[in-house]
Amino acid sequence: MENKKRAQWGSNFGFIMAAAGSAVGLGNLWKFPYLAGKNGGGVFVFVYLLIVLLIGFTIMLGEMVIGRSTQLSSYNAYQKISKNWSFIGAMGVITGFIVLSFYSVVGGWVLNYLYQYIAGGIPSDTSAYFVSFISNPISPIFWNMVFMAATAYIVFKGIGGGIEKACKFMMPALFVLLIVISIRAITLPGAGAGIAFYLTPDLSKLTTGTIVAALGQVFFSLSLGLGCIITYGSYLGKGENLEKNSIIVPFIDTLVALLAGFAILPAVFAFGFEPGAGPGLMFITLPQVFDKMPLGWVFGILFFILVLFAALTSSISLLEVTVAYMQDQHKWRRTKAVIVLSTLMFLVGIPASLSMGIWSNVTIFGKNIFDSLVFASDILLPLGGLLMCIFIGYVWGIDKAVAEITIGGKLPFRLKGFWTVMIKYVAPIAVIVVFLNALGILKL
Ligand code: PHE
Repeated sequence: MENKKRAQWGSNFGFIMAAAGSAVGLGNLWKFPYLAGKNGGGVFVFVYLLIVLLIGFTIMLGEMVIGRSTQLSSYNAYQKISKNWSFIGAMGVITGFIVLSFYSVVGGWVLNYLYQYIAGGIPSDTSAYFVSFISNPISPIFWNMVFMAATAYIVFKGIGGGIEKACKFMMPALFVLLIVISIRAITLPGAGAGIAFYLTPDLSKLTTGTIVAALGQVFFSLSLGLGCIITYGSYLGKGENLEKNSIIVPFIDTLVALLAGFAILPAVFAFGFEPGAGPGLMFITLPQVFDKMPLGWVFGILFFILVLFAALTSSISLLEVTVAYMQDQHKWRRTKAVIVLSTLMFLVGIPASLSMGIWSNVTIFGKNIFDSLVFASDILLPLGGLLMCIFIGYVWGIDKAVAEITIGGKLPFRLKGFWTVMIKYVAPIAVIVVFLNALGILKL
């Protein structure tokens, strides 16, 4: 099923911006700082870094190899290599659908906050404001629609002219904004306590909860386990160095997560707020920080532009996973796939959004609809990653993967030994252990 006209990235730099754009998102700016705040600061950061080095890199390279080798998006890529294993790809497409359904709800919140800052600011009771906004039955759904429409528009424009172009502009802009805001935050009087909390790993605070949270966060933050990187990798030309790319993309993602912590936690400490505030950290605590800061509204606007860029470059990758599946498998045209899928995901987002308000009493296994979607992705991403490791290690075979990485021996592969051990043994075992622990079967 060779597709001669398959789109390609304009350059390897374009691919890196797109893949890093997928990785850098709400996971870095919203989740990472609050998870670090909740899970002991430095110790969480330490465990997170370790998992990125060992498992993040391994799975990133694994996905890139599958995509580039087959030149097909996730489902068809697995199918081409081994028919019986295409279910991993199918699972990934469904996961992409689920993740974007709730991701764009939060993307809508970000748009609303940006709009409010431009229109004059957030009321000073930020907590009451946040709760009343997300529980409103109309306004968050309106903003979700705008966010989804923006996502759909970029994906509709295609690989080079849409995704690559958008990421090549938004990623560098995001980086500059983040540096400006981090410098502002760490130079606030009293920021030192936050920096110390963030950088000093107190190993006595290490719990299994920290490890489980960090592992889940690595998968989410690096966009692993659902075939995003397989799909993006399928638009890569044969000359590109996958080993290098698999180091650069997690590096950028991790740098942004760390910087996000610097942009947020020192400011939170400087003004005497609670770092463990959880999901409200970005929407409740941070606006209070901006409120107290000189020229805070300017920083509010800059900050939410930055978050919006990060969220969009991720949401387009999620939509692309499902769109590419429809193109490769069902021969749909891009336009049709984009319109149908983004509409469906928006519709699923409606009950998710309502579950913050009038539908909060509708629960699935004790969780509201929004949290159930998040929970499903928390399981599906590591599961997808685990199956991918088994697939490469034991079904496709390391040798074929290595041949693709080295282009039949023409490119060096310095970490070959490390990667082989990681993908065959360490990564799958680590994910299984964490799963068993989370299920309460194995007590660590
Ligand atoms: N990595 C994105 C983030 O950190 C989210 C994402 C997950 C995107 C899975 C694609 C696939 O926000």
